[in-house]
Amino acid sequence: MLTEIIKIFKEKSDYVSGEEMSKKLGITRAAIWKKVKELRRKGYVIKGSSAKGYRLIKTPEFSAEELRMIISPESFNKGEFIGRELVFLESVDSTNTFAMELAEKGSPHGTIVIADKQTKGKGRLGRTWVSPPKSNIYMSAIMRPEIGPKDATLLTVMAAVACAEGIKNSSGLDVRIKWPNDLVVYDKKLGGILTEMKSDPDRILFAVVGIGINVNAGLRNFPPDIRDTATSVKKELGKAQSRTAVVAEILKSMNRWHDILAKEGKRPLIEEWKRRLTTLGRKVRVFVGSESLTGIAEDVDGEGLLILRLPSGAARKISSGDVTMLR
Ligand code: BTN
Repeated sequence: MLTEIIKIFKEKSDYVSGEEMSKKLGITRAAIWKKVKELRRKGYVIKGSSAKGYRLIKTPEFSAEELRMIISPESFNKGEFIGRELVFLESVDSTNTFAMELAEKGSPHGTIVIADKQTKGKGRLGRTWVSPPKSNIYMSAIMRPEIGPKDATLLTVMAAVACAEGIKNSSGLDVRIKWPNDLVVYDKKLGGILTEMKSDPDRILFAVVGIGINVNAGLRNFPPDIRDTATSVKKELGKAQSRTAVVAEILKSMNRWHDILAKEGKRPLIEEWKRRLTTLGRKVRVFVGSESLTGIAEDVDGEGLLILRLPSGAARKISSGDVTMLR
């Protein structure tokens, strides 16, 4: 109902009388007044005039309603799309933890959980993900893919490519990927992906793909120890961005790559990911567990494993690790 009211406002871009609204929506004027109050609470600036009715002055920078209007079945022409169910929270411990619980209770493939703030954001390798309010994107997608656990990395690859593409399409910023799935701009970290899952030996029961992107955070939002290595879209472009627009473009791109994966297999996706990797051809140090390896990041194979050329001349395939660029 809220999105219908917003649509009416946007179609007219002038005052809409309470009577016209109530006729169009089939609800009383008192009910409309309640909805207007709800929209105002969500950050919509709506002028009210006893003679002329209501007029929408400003939409909020981040809102579930705006997202639902952009990410709709009409955009994808199918029932099963990523973003079909959208849970929008003001604050949560971690969108991944919340989404894992929802998935356990049966939430469908494509459900998205978004929060404005996380109190216990999780990063890769047991790290904390700094998650200040009103600035960044914290989002998790519930996926029920028909792939085996050994292909689960494809979900993370798909999210990384979709994020790079979505950020570019919404803001113009060029984002590269540091193997395996860090989003970087000139080697500074802009975002990351954490995939968690529940699986049987031969089947993923469900996976939660968690995406964190620094969009409008200023560096003082970050603890001193990561200020030199982190960045945000706003810092790179010198201008705040609409998180709604960024999320909408990422979801569009995820849906597109999800279809490509289903129809054409993993090759086009891996190729696109490879094209965006900033790691290849560079000297790197990789921590694999407690082992530290230095070498040239030569290539990635068809499964997404990193091929590291060691000083001895031997090649080593690495499935997951923490990479530092040395030059
Ligand atoms: C990384 O360490 O690079 C991965 C960071 C992933 C952060 C996101 S924010 C949304 C989702 N919820 C979490 O707790 N973590 C992921």
